[in-house]
Amino acid sequence: MSAQAPVILVTGKNGQVGYELQRALMPLGTVIAVDRTTMNLADSDSIRAAVAQIKPDVIVNAAAYTAVDKAESDQEAAMQINGIAPGVLAEEAKKLNALLIHYSTDYVYDGTKDGIYVETDATSPVNYYGLSKLAGEQAIEATGVDHLILRTSWVYGSRGGNFLLTMLRLMKEREALNVIDDQHGTPTWSRLIAEVTAQIVKQSLKEKQAAEFASGIYHLTSSGETTWHGFASKIAQLAADKVDLKIKNIEKIPTSQYPTPAKRPHNSRISTQAIAARFSLMLPAWDEALALCMQDYL
Ligand SMILES: NC(=O)c1ccc[n+]([C@@H]2O[C@H](COP(=O)([O-])OP(=O)(O)OC[C@H]3O[C@@H](n4cnc5c(N)ncnc54)[C@H](OP(=O)(O)O)[C@@H]3O)[C@@H](O)[C@H]2O)c1
Repeated sequence: MSAQAPVILVTGKNGQVGYELQRALMPLGTVIAVDRTTMNLADSDSIRAAVAQIKPDVIVNAAAYTAVDKAESDQEAAMQINGIAPGVLAEEAKKLNALLIHYSTDYVYDGTKDGIYVETDATSPVNYYGLSKLAGEQAIEATGVDHLILRTSWVYGSRGGNFLLTMLRLMKEREALNVIDDQHGTPTWSRLIAEVTAQIVKQSLKEKQAAEFASGIYHLTSSGETTWHGFASKIAQLAADKVDLKIKNIEKIPTSQYPTPAKRPHNSRISTQAIAARFSLMLPAWDEALALCMQDYL
């Protein structure tokens, strides 16, 4: 690792998390953020060439195939981008003795646990997206690179395709909406993920220099829990005095009344105790973070 300011390579620069990372990581070094034109995760040669040219000290991989339903019928692309590419990135990072930060998902669990998931619980994805993300985790671990895998959930923010923006659009158009109330999890603001990542990168670089760094998998979400219906209701409440909404009724429905190509786990609740302890963090409540995000956006 160089003695000067570290070079930090961010993939997926136009994604929800990648966009925020460019801002959050700026004080830590030279951030080089790329999209698929510079590094196409579907093409291993393109990954190797870009990493060899940029020679990063840290790689933060925020690029992924995130279309959960489409992944069921587009399995080859999902596996290449989520399952294989992270391993290639990891191999290249290992050659440079760089640190790899990678994001994964609550969808590695099947959601049948009666309680909150911890990182050591068994994985058993119920959809192909989850399976491909789990393959990516395993590919990284197999290389022995210095890495942190951060499993997050229900990501939203002020850009990209996400539940918050979809709900705001629908609530302006419709008087009634049906929203699933039997999937439990924690909405997480993309900016929170980026800011926590910056803290983690800072501490990890120090640990690496002191030869005290330990790789691992951590959950990274806001604190607290809700359902999609609870999330939608909070959005309506927070937007009510700022936007002209048509919405009058948000009905609770079970997952069975909203069939999708990909199955989703009913229990997506994941504990953040481990990350909070290792990196001295306080993860804000999901509804407080949502209020800040909406204040910013609206
Ligand atoms: N969104 C969620 O609810 C959620 C939940 C749990 C975990 N995660 C994980 O969190 C991380 C960040 O997700 P996000 O919500 O920020 O995703 P996102 O907004 O969908 O962004 C993903 C980014 O990946 C890029 N990408 C896709 N295919 C690529 C390819 N072949 N080569 C290079 N770049 C490619 C996209 O580029 P284009 O803009 O060009 O398409 C996009 O910029 C991912 O690892 C995701 O699996 C997300």
